[in-house]
Parts: sequence; C-alpha cells; structure tokens
Amino acid sequence: MIVKTAEFLVSNSYYQSCPKPDKPEYAFIGRSNVGKSSLINKMVGIKGLAKTSGKPGKTQLINHFLINEKWYLVDLPGYGYASIPLKIKAKWETMISGYLQTRKNLLTTFVLIDIRHSPQKNDIDFIENLAEHQIPFAIIFTKADKVTSRKQKVNLKTYEDYLRENWEELPAIFVTSSETGLGSEPVLDYIEQANKVFAYQTE
Ligand code: GTP
Ligand code: MG
Repeated sequence: MIVKTAEFLVSNSYYQSCPKPDKPEYAFIGRSNVGKSSLINKMVGIKGLAKTSGKPGKTQLINHFLINEKWYLVDLPGYGYASIPLKIKAKWETMISGYLQTRKNLLTTFVLIDIRHSPQKNDIDFIENLAEHQIPFAIIFTKADKVTSRKQKVNLKTYEDYLRENWEELPAIFVTSSETGLGSEPVLDYIEQANKVFAYQTE
C-alpha cells in the first residue's frame, strides 16, 4: 500500500470519546520505548507525526491518525514502564483495556516486541489477555537494525518456539526497523488486505 496522506486527528484519555468507528482501525501497543511511535512515523513517511522519545512513557493518550482518508492508525501508551505512579498506571490500564475491548472497528491490534530480548512475562501476559478477550492481534518485532540478521533469525525462532508451546496457530509476525524501513511494507500490505475485508463486510 502506498501512503498518500497521514494526519494526526485527536488524542483521547477516554476511549468513549474516540472518533466514530466508521473506518477500519489498527492499534500499536507494546512496552514503553519499544518503538511504536517511531514505526508509525516510518510507515507513513512523516518524521515527528507521532511523538517519540528516548525516555519511556512518551505516549500517554489514545492517538488517532487518519491514513489515506480511509483508515485509522492508533498510537497507544506503552505498558511495563516501571517509574510511573501506581494511580496513573491503573488509569492507563483501564483506558487501554477499555479501548481494546470495546472498539468495534479495531481489526488488528499489533503488539510490538523488541527483537533483542527473549520472551518477557509482561508481553506474554498481554498477548494472552488479548486472546482471552478474543481481540485479533499480530506481532511486530522492532529494532531489527540493532542485531545482526543471524541474531534476528535466532531470536525470532526462539519466540515462535515459545509461542508454539501454548498455541496451535501462530499470529501474523513481522520484523521491522524504524531506522532502515525494514518490514514497513509488509505491515502496510497486511492492513490493505484487512481493509478490503472491512469494506466487503460493511457493504
Ligand atoms: P512510549 O510512547 O514511551 O511507549 O514509547 P514508543 O514505543 O512509542 O517508542 P518510541 O517510538 O518513542 O521510541 C523509543 C526510542 O527507541 C527512541 O529513542 C527511538 O529513536 C528508538 N527506536 C525506535 N524504533 C527504533 C528502531 O527500529 N531502531 C532503532 N535503532 N531505534 C529505534
Ligand atoms: Mg510512543
């Protein structure tokens, strides 16, 4: 898919105030600092559209971007960021789980995972929670430029083997880098296919 237009629409702290669910929607979630906002910018080709930072905890709201005037890409706050007050953490969790569980037009939740690490408990817990609530998801590994291509393959296989221990079928999996642009196209193509299904179902 070619991204012709991408614009920031709105930030919300309440999922109830998000834009009308009349277009297909895709959300980026994952640990703080994993690279959600950076990958959105790379995919749409606009530096600085989604706010990024070297420090975790940059994205704090539900951010809607409108792409090609046709579908929504949503940047969410990260989880697993240790140094936020418990009260705010609880508020974020309510905001994110409320959004994920009620958003009718949310076709795929992309869970972003840093390819450098072995499977982490909070990512696995998050994925299992999505599955329990029957929220369709895919996995995007980030920061591939930070490891050799050999290490990419090894870490990917470790992750897939780990998931296979509990899952019969693996979700769609992508390997990306916001530095090199690796993987942006396959993710956009996946979204393009899903958009077609959405159009077909609402006809
Ligand atoms: P929160 O909003 O805090 O949850 O973080 P985030 O997941 O949106 O991460 P963000 O995109 O802000 O990136 C965090 C840091 O990682 C920044 O310093 C980015 O430059 C860096 N980063 C993100 N993606 C990549 C990547 O693919 N490669 C490299 N080398 N650095 C990356
Ligand atoms: Mg962010």
